[in-house]
Amino acid sequence: MFNVGVNRVDPLALELDTAEQIAAIDRASLQAAGLDIPTKSGPAQLTSLQLQSDCRPVDGLWLARENARVIGHVALQLPWRDNTDTAHFRGTVHPAARRRGVGRALLEETLSLAGEAGRSKVYAGAYEGSDGIPALQALGFSNRGLGVNAVRRLDVHGAPPGLWDRLYDEAMARAADYELEHQVGPTPEDMVEGMVTLHEAINDAPLDDPDLEDDAWDADRVRSYDRAMAGRRQTVYRVMARHRASGDWAGLSMMCVDELSPTVAFQEDTSVVRGHRGHRLGLLMKADMLRWITWERPEVSAVDTWNATTNHHMIAVNEKLGATVVARHVSFRLQA
Ligand SMILES: CC(C)(COP(=O)(O)OP(=O)(O)OC[C@H]1O[C@@H](n2cnc3c(N)ncnc32)[C@H](O)[C@@H]1OP(=O)(O)O)[C@@H](O)C(=O)NCCC(=O)NCCS
Repeated sequence: MFNVGVNRVDPLALELDTAEQIAAIDRASLQAAGLDIPTKSGPAQLTSLQLQSDCRPVDGLWLARENARVIGHVALQLPWRDNTDTAHFRGTVHPAARRRGVGRALLEETLSLAGEAGRSKVYAGAYEGSDGIPALQALGFSNRGLGVNAVRRLDVHGAPPGLWDRLYDEAMARAADYELEHQVGPTPEDMVEGMVTLHEAINDAPLDDPDLEDDAWDADRVRSYDRAMAGRRQTVYRVMARHRASGDWAGLSMMCVDELSPTVAFQEDTSVVRGHRGHRLGLLMKADMLRWITWERPEVSAVDTWNATTNHHMIAVNEKLGATVVARHVSFRLQA
């Protein structure tokens, strides 16, 4: 580790030039693994570390530097609304600086803070085919009892013409009791409580780790999420399904467009409230979202989505829509 220093830095004091270096490491890492996955731009990296998804910075950020150049980074997140015994980190060492103990040095700092915060479960993840898999295993992590997420991509401009219209009509034939509404950006105040119900519905999604608690949603979390996304220059598109007769909210599908690099959009949660399942609302909302985004944001050429490989219903919907697997991401937990 000649000339390498590891320092903790305040994410709120991070400079754009440093964030650009972090972004460049992630880009080089995916390229080295032969993965065609979009990475954050420097500004997106900066605002993500500062705002995450609830307007709070990451709980710990360490940089490894060699001769003043950043060669590795790790960010630690300590959930506080739920799962308060867990810690999650993401880190990368530049491919040219690997196998020299930098990853281990970054991990030691991370584990020390996680330990001080009383977190007994420490999670990380790595893409199949990347150095992260053997490295995490060598560092004491295991995938035992945990899952794998497949990353699927929809080629928006290359989709067969009329496919999403056809699927929309097919789903609507089963969902005549429902109507769809669109929302762009932050949730209006009179809709916040309804949005809590819709976000909570994701807690039914199959989880590979039985040790994890449900996500705790309340009005403050919805507002913070929307504020964080706006601060990160992510435009949030929401398609919501409402039961016509009762007026109850029944389903939600979300997509984020990064205004700093809008070519690849991200499909976020899609969830249907339990009592409204079985009416093709998942397919309806997603087909509607794709029709909308194609029209509204012609610069979006692809949409990426993550699914647990055990989430058969959602995978079936995504494959109908034309999504194909481009990568697999394996979850790991530090063994006691
Ligand atoms: C994971 C990562 C940060 C490790 O960085 P690194 O600087 O190469 O790690 P170290 O040199 O400290 O190696 C740590 C241990 O992993 C082992 N290791 C690292 N890469 C390995 C590989 N490709 N194959 C086999 N073992 C490997 C090392 O031998 C070492 O074990 P040892 O001390 O028992 O010999 C790096 O591979 C990376 O950036 N991967 C892509 C991002 C990622 O997947 N991150 C996962 C954590 S969020």
